[in-house]
Amino acid sequence: MESESAVSELAEPNLRRLLSTAGLDVEYVRAVGNTLFRKDANGREVPVLDYAAGYGALIFGHNHPEIVARARELLDEQIPVLAQFSSHPYANRLADELNRIIHRETGTTEPYYATFANSGAEGVEAAVKHAELDRVLSLSAHLDEAEESTRAARAAVEAGTATVPEGLRDSLGLGRPADGEQDIERLCGEIGRRNDERRNRPPVFLALESGFHGKLMGSVQLTHNPGYREPFTALGATTRFVPVGRPDVLKEVFEQERGVLLRLTVERGEVRVGEREHHTVCAFLLEPIQGEGGIHPLPRKFAEEIQAFSEETGCPLVIDEIQSGMGRTGTFLAGTHLGLRGDYYVLAKALGGGIAKAAVMLVRETRYRPEFELLHSSTFAKDSFSCYVALKVLDMLEAGGGEGYRLAEERGAALAAMLERVAAGFPDVVKEVRGRGLMLGFEFHDQCDAKDDALREAARSSLFGYVIAGHLLHRHAIRSFPTASAVHTLRFEPSVLLTDAEIDRLEEALTDVCGIVRDQSSQRLVLTS
Ligand code: F0G
Repeated sequence: MESESAVSELAEPNLRRLLSTAGLDVEYVRAVGNTLFRKDANGREVPVLDYAAGYGALIFGHNHPEIVARARELLDEQIPVLAQFSSHPYANRLADELNRIIHRETGTTEPYYATFANSGAEGVEAAVKHAELDRVLSLSAHLDEAEESTRAARAAVEAGTATVPEGLRDSLGLGRPADGEQDIERLCGEIGRRNDERRNRPPVFLALESGFHGKLMGSVQLTHNPGYREPFTALGATTRFVPVGRPDVLKEVFEQERGVLLRLTVERGEVRVGEREHHTVCAFLLEPIQGEGGIHPLPRKFAEEIQAFSEETGCPLVIDEIQSGMGRTGTFLAGTHLGLRGDYYVLAKALGGGIAKAAVMLVRETRYRPEFELLHSSTFAKDSFSCYVALKVLDMLEAGGGEGYRLAEERGAALAAMLERVAAGFPDVVKEVRGRGLMLGFEFHDQCDAKDDALREAARSSLFGYVIAGHLLHRHAIRSFPTASAVHTLRFEPSVLLTDAEIDRLEEALTDVCGIVRDQSSQRLVLTS
């Protein structure tokens, strides 16, 4: 057998070094439920309780027997996994089922059309592309109408049935026409120029500070963390980030992107300049609970303000439920708790049941552009295996009148109560417990000015959360991570199978960790295996 170092040094060596610093470069060899297994020096399996749970992708845990059985069945039946450009009844069934659930939760009856993808970021990019197609097609239609109207006004003037009133030129800031040039020509030229200027403006997206929507070329521009985004700014569209809880900033930004499309019209024999509002904002993306940015639930009032803003301005809302959706918070969509109704929804992670790579972008009928289907595709998206597995996951969530959601809510409440208990015992150490259902964050107070040298240095180099994660792993056989863009927050996103005994184990481990931080005694930390 090849030695591990011979193969792994080529796969992201720097990342491996970072993991190694915190003792997190462990290989797991088996996984079931909430448990991963690693091998010790003697080759024996050591169970590790997994609270990271595939960054929220494992709503039913690792290798759930029912999901695995379904996958086996599919392979044994020799289903055609890839049969592009043919009929995909399983994809239609999945879209129907998603519609049924979303309709039940949001109260809408409007259909949502589905475009499938292979990952969360890809699903986000499909939504963004669709929103841009919609914007460009509407803009083109409005410009065509404006041109038609302007052409008709010009023809009326040339035919002598309409006149250009004094002062119309001034209203557009135009001087006298050059010798031999007609007023109407000048007006038409100026309107064409101004409309072209609007047409050529690139789209602008709105997203929230601390938001995370992926790391592909397009989606990374919607992700707030400048470290991920800024090296690639030149490759993607512009996003304007709005602070959470600031509807005034949202409106101000939108106002700055507002402009008008112009046209000439004729009223009672006189030429007039008509205006139609046009803004360059293409869509607003948000997570109902920000995940990677530190487990921050969107405040309900702000969600209502965003919903009202979208309805007033027509700016489409893309609700990124990639992490928060699929039942994790006790409802299928986390946005349901906030009264959010998306023009678009994006789901991924748990949709694949922990064994398939599946994502879906849903867009409501009134926004839907059928042209999109031929403009966007992927070899692997909409494959039968992922669709059937996703259908199985939905069945499991919905079984017994929604037992999956009830479990997420009830197990989540038990876990949150424990985290709150630990926090209450260490008010100087724990800043806050946040989240909903099985999407919880546990934030430590900043340790950048800690008395303990090692804790202070870890915090200053953004490694504090990773050092704590290393200790949890090696002392307590528990796997959890800090949220990558907020490294003082540990995230807990276990499956609905979470037991009371597993919660007790975490309580003991966190009590130990909090004691170490309170006592500023890093020598008690286990840093590596
Ligand atoms: N949107 C949200 C809300 C996410 O949490 C993620 C991924 C993505 C999009 C991108 O999905 O990784 O399948 O392309 N979140 C991970 C995390 C990376 O750490 O929470 P992807």
